[in-house]
Amino acid sequence: MPETLTLYVLNGPNLNLLGVREPDIYGHETLADVQAMCEAAAEGARVVFRQSNHEGQLVDWIQEARTEASALVINPAAFTHTSVALLDALKTLSIPVVECHLSNPAAREAFRHHSYVSLAATGVIAGFGPRSYELAVRAALDLARRAGTKG
Ligand code: DQA
Repeated sequence: MPETLTLYVLNGPNLNLLGVREPDIYGHETLADVQAMCEAAAEGARVVFRQSNHEGQLVDWIQEARTEASALVINPAAFTHTSVALLDALKTLSIPVVECHLSNPAAREAFRHHSYVSLAATGVIAGFGPRSYELAVRAALDLARRAGTKG
């Protein structure tokens, strides 16, 4: 039996209000809906799905992922554009990291065009609404499986 992979899916500030927060941009699905989509897309992998409004909490969870996760999906929300601390934490990981956004920040205000997190991401998926998470989960687990493939 192959080992069960563990995927961390971390969510940054204000994503607890998904569904009621600017639904014209972020849609009507709640974070619980997104979690269910991630679990379905993970097809048996263990999903650790968390959200925090606090930068330090996210840093702690990224550090935890160093030893506990096979891959990480992160929607850093506003911290995408501000956080050297998240970048530095992500740089300590040797697992695949997929940055994920509901909207396409590149098509929005200029201050959203720069991502600190992208500097440490294996890849970025943005602009597909909640489906961004589904795609990100698939990509992260695919990378983790390939990394675990011998020969
Ligand atoms: C976001 C995009 C960010 O610019 C914004 O601050 C968010 C959500 C997204 O998922 O589209 O809070 O990460």
